[in-house]
Amino acid sequence: WLLFPANTRVRIAVIGGTGLQDLPGFTKVASLDIETPWGKPSSPITILHHQCSVSGKDVPVAFLSRHGTHHQIAPHEVPNRANIAALRSIGVRTVIAFSAVGSLQEAIKPRDFVVPDQIIDRTKGVRPFTFFESGVVAHVPFGDPFDENVAKIVRECGHSLEGDGVILHDRGTLVCMEGPQFSTRAESNMYRSFGGSVINMSALPEAKLLAKRTCISNDLHVDDYDCWHEATADVTVEMVMGNMKANAVNARRFVGAVLDALALDSHADTVNAKHLEGGVKFGISTPQT
Ligand code: ADE
Repeated sequence: WLLFPANTRVRIAVIGGTGLQDLPGFTKVASLDIETPWGKPSSPITILHHQCSVSGKDVPVAFLSRHGTHHQIAPHEVPNRANIAALRSIGVRTVIAFSAVGSLQEAIKPRDFVVPDQIIDRTKGVRPFTFFESGVVAHVPFGDPFDENVAKIVRECGHSLEGDGVILHDRGTLVCMEGPQFSTRAESNMYRSFGGSVINMSALPEAKLLAKRTCISNDLHVDDYDCWHEATADVTVEMVMGNMKANAVNARRFVGAVLDALALDSHADTVNAKHLEGGVKFGISTPQT
């Protein structure tokens, strides 16, 4: 691992979800086995070198497999606090989080991509969802759960791949449910009546733990129509995996384009989350001594 000196700061991370357990095609320079006060993350953190195809610059990128290297961790078992703490401990300031989702709208079709701008929390409160407890009280704004600056870059990259078959929806409301069972038809229709665009089981509490210190953009690949759609079969794991496999080439192309864009000097302030500095400090209401 000579290419990765111990004190290197890595600013960009990709969190891969179902179907994106690794990122082949990138040069692996280290595998970090990190222990945090909240335990070990879902997988070792792989450090990859991405060579920007525009500037030729080499950028280190951290990759974490949310459900484990062998997809052995269920959505409600993901050690989110350890994952985020481990990424932050190596300097990460921008996270592109990939996840499989079901569609709640006719116009959002299996194999499309969505960059959501809102989220509805339908987890059951059983997942540890904050770093602030045991004497530290904080209320951090969460009106815009995803970072618009980085989302804008991700959207531009998605649209630049339209000729290669990437269909991207610029906005959407993501419903994050508890699982691991999929929804009932009544629930699925209720989420549609809420204005939900897509549904998954893993965006929260990940996004809450990252909020306001780290730029996060969710990049969602649609794999099914959940169970509300009368003309298509109800969602099954087989269906999710099948569409996921079919979409893998596009997903990897998409990651490459996003990393190219994030490597540009003109995006350095966004990547370093300059606009988020102090966001957590002003949310802490415990008297500072
Ligand atoms: N992940 C992929 N498809 C899903 C669905 N229909 N519901 C919840 N999570 C999902």
